[in-house]
Amino acid sequence: MAEATVGGNAEAITAAELAEIGLRYEVDGEIATITLNRPERRNAQTFATWSALARIGDGLPARVRVVVVQGEGPSFSSGIDLRMFGSDGVPGQEPFPASFGASASLDDEALERSIRQAQRGFLWLRRPDIVSIAAVQGHAIGAGFQLALACDLRVLAEDAKLCMKEAALGLVPDLTGTKPLVDIVGLPRALELCLTARTVDAREAFELRLAELVVPREELSRAVRDLAAALLSTDREAARAVKRLLQGAPERSLEEQCAAERREQVARLKALFAGR
Ligand code: ACO
Repeated sequence: MAEATVGGNAEAITAAELAEIGLRYEVDGEIATITLNRPERRNAQTFATWSALARIGDGLPARVRVVVVQGEGPSFSSGIDLRMFGSDGVPGQEPFPASFGASASLDDEALERSIRQAQRGFLWLRRPDIVSIAAVQGHAIGAGFQLALACDLRVLAEDAKLCMKEAALGLVPDLTGTKPLVDIVGLPRALELCLTARTVDAREAFELRLAELVVPREELSRAVRDLAAALLSTDREAARAVKRLLQGAPERSLEEQCAAERREQVARLKALFAGR
């Protein structure tokens, strides 16, 4: 069932506002679907997109366990709206800077603040209470690739093309994508991909573990639905605990990880057998 507003607080954002920004958001039971919906610009992203994504995260109903991020039209996302490079920028983004030129005139602290705000739109997709899935067809360039990397899992259509283009434009990837990229493909390959800005097709993406699944274009929605259903088939609280455990594993020693397993399992057993 579609919901007209996002969240029940002062931050609530209406479906009409989202439409203006080029987003759709629907919650159907335990699954939320966010659709980048500016296919005429190949779902190019702006500060307004990222701010809206953050507000969706803030207002996500507690019952939601799976968040699907997808793009309307031929491409998942062509990355940042290139009008940001022009002097006019992208209208209607207040209070964010309309263009990179305007951004650059901010003092360092204010500029960092605006980037942190943008990053908020991506970071919540890794929360332990949800599993996020990017459904990627066509191009995922720059901010588009980073949005796919911000999700826990990626399902790619056979025509998917991933490209970290930032360095070619004189920028760095700053929308939370560098860490998952290095975590997934390793430092040498991440360097090669970012510093050449070359395009990775779906087959190579699968080999590099950038995709959990590659399917024919016409089967993308169905494959994502099936994956979501499989994720929902396990116990909600156990799923959260497992995600916390797995997410923390790379930073912990074996001993610390074993201790974390014990802590999570004690909590699980107590909860499962409380009152029996
Ligand atoms: N920003 C603004 N408008 C865009 C963008 C973008 N990132 N990408 C595409 N568009 C617009 C085009 O200007 C075009 O508009 P028009 O119909 O008014 O001429 C329309 O979307 C369709 O674009 P096409 O290029 O005709 O679509 P096609 O499917 O052939 O190609 C592709 C898609 C490959 C994504 C191409 O549009 C492209 O290379 N876009 C730019 C990608 C880019 O450099 N992004 C920045 C990455 S860096 C970062 O995100 C920080």
